[in-house]
Amino acid sequence: MGQVRLTMFGTDEFPTREEIVEEYAKEFNRYVTPKGDTVFGFWMQTLADLELLDLELQGLTEEYKINPVERTVDFKGDEDFIRLRVAHLEKVRVKTSLYTDFVDSYGDTNAYAFHNLYPYKGKFYPRVVRTLINAFGLKSGDLILDLFNGSGTTTHEASLMGIKSVGIDITPMGVVLSNLKNNLPFLSLEELNFTNNELVEILQSIEKKEWKHQNDTIYNLMLTIYFDTMDAFERTSRYDKKGKERLFIEKFNYIKACYQKLIEIKNKFGLEFERAEIIEGDALELKKYEEYESRFDAIITSPPYYFSIDYVGKDKIAYEYLGVNMKKIESKYLGMKNSISHGRTYGNLPYKVILYYRDLRKSIENMYWALKDGGKMAIIIGDSTVGGRKTPTTMITKKFCEEVGFEFRKLIFNPLLGARNRAIRGESIIMGEKRM
Ligand SMILES: C[S@@+](CC[C@H](N)C(=O)[O-])C[C@H]1O[C@@H](n2cnc3c(N)ncnc32)[C@H](O)[C@@H]1O
Repeated sequence: MGQVRLTMFGTDEFPTREEIVEEYAKEFNRYVTPKGDTVFGFWMQTLADLELLDLELQGLTEEYKINPVERTVDFKGDEDFIRLRVAHLEKVRVKTSLYTDFVDSYGDTNAYAFHNLYPYKGKFYPRVVRTLINAFGLKSGDLILDLFNGSGTTTHEASLMGIKSVGIDITPMGVVLSNLKNNLPFLSLEELNFTNNELVEILQSIEKKEWKHQNDTIYNLMLTIYFDTMDAFERTSRYDKKGKERLFIEKFNYIKACYQKLIEIKNKFGLEFERAEIIEGDALELKKYEEYESRFDAIITSPPYYFSIDYVGKDKIAYEYLGVNMKKIESKYLGMKNSISHGRTYGNLPYKVILYYRDLRKSIENMYWALKDGGKMAIIIGDSTVGGRKTPTTMITKKFCEEVGFEFRKLIFNPLLGARNRAIRGESIIMGEKRM
């Protein structure tokens, strides 16, 4: 009553256009500049990302407090170390993090270093691997295992962080890719110097099956680029005009640019990379490697999700070229086995699914066997839809973990935004610990 109705700028006068513009600009600046010296990366988009930040700060700091409104963090701890390791912060005490340099330099939050070497099916996000390595408090001298190493995301990320690891996979292509990611950072720039004419000659000699090179890394790199080129050609007519030669050269130049960016960042931050050991083998036969009993500090892995997709067939071009027997791989591939066997049954699920679960359980038993007492594990897995029915793989995996002896620690659901495949909406990270 009797009160003067104020306008938005606290007066009863109407502001001028200039005043409005100026006030908005000030307001904008207040929000755009975070009120803190340790700020979130712009790539943090979901609640799961907030959980992942929380998780890694537990391993990296002595004490921390996340302010999700301001998108800042307050912490106590070694700021230089955190800056080199953290995967969710853009700045740590004013200075940009190593991860920010990766994102800025490669223009992508996941395709940095050699992670984007080849479109391997079912790759996981390097950012998640980095987060888990941080959460588990792993450091140089520790040993990590991924027994479903695929194209080597775990082993590559561990190498970049200066931590030793062992990667096992059943597919020869996975082994080639993991080894490439392992060895490329140790090449010299001269070893990657090829003229366009030389590259065209290499392409031709690969096509004639006459390609040779004394350096295994260069030899496999060229083959991999060739497989990727041919695959792109077969899948779409988009590259017809460009031609195979130009596509091959472009792909090579992309990898070379990845190398140069990586070395630049390595020098800027004074990083020391580690080499991983890569093995072509069966996760179900892990106990064959007796020296791995109670050997690992952590396992970070992602078994195949149950799908009715022809995983092995995705690399058909490569396997036909290399003369690899694909049926033999399929006979050991989790979720692709067809043979009839007697095991536990789970409702009226197809036998193939039951076999898949039986193998999954066995692989989790092997993980328990390979970890040290106090060792940490993270399994990344998703539920898929089989014949219109959702398979409860995540909860079954969690149950298996507890059955074999793991203490359950945490489950984070990570939605796969923009995933086109409707059969899979997201994946879960199941974390546990071996406590004897
Ligand atoms: C979801 S993918 C893992 C991808 C990996 N995280 C990456 O980033 O490339 C599952 C992997 O399990 C492998 N695999 C399937 N059966 C296996 C077995 N019996 N032993 C070892 N690896 C197996 C597949 O070849 C595939 O690479």
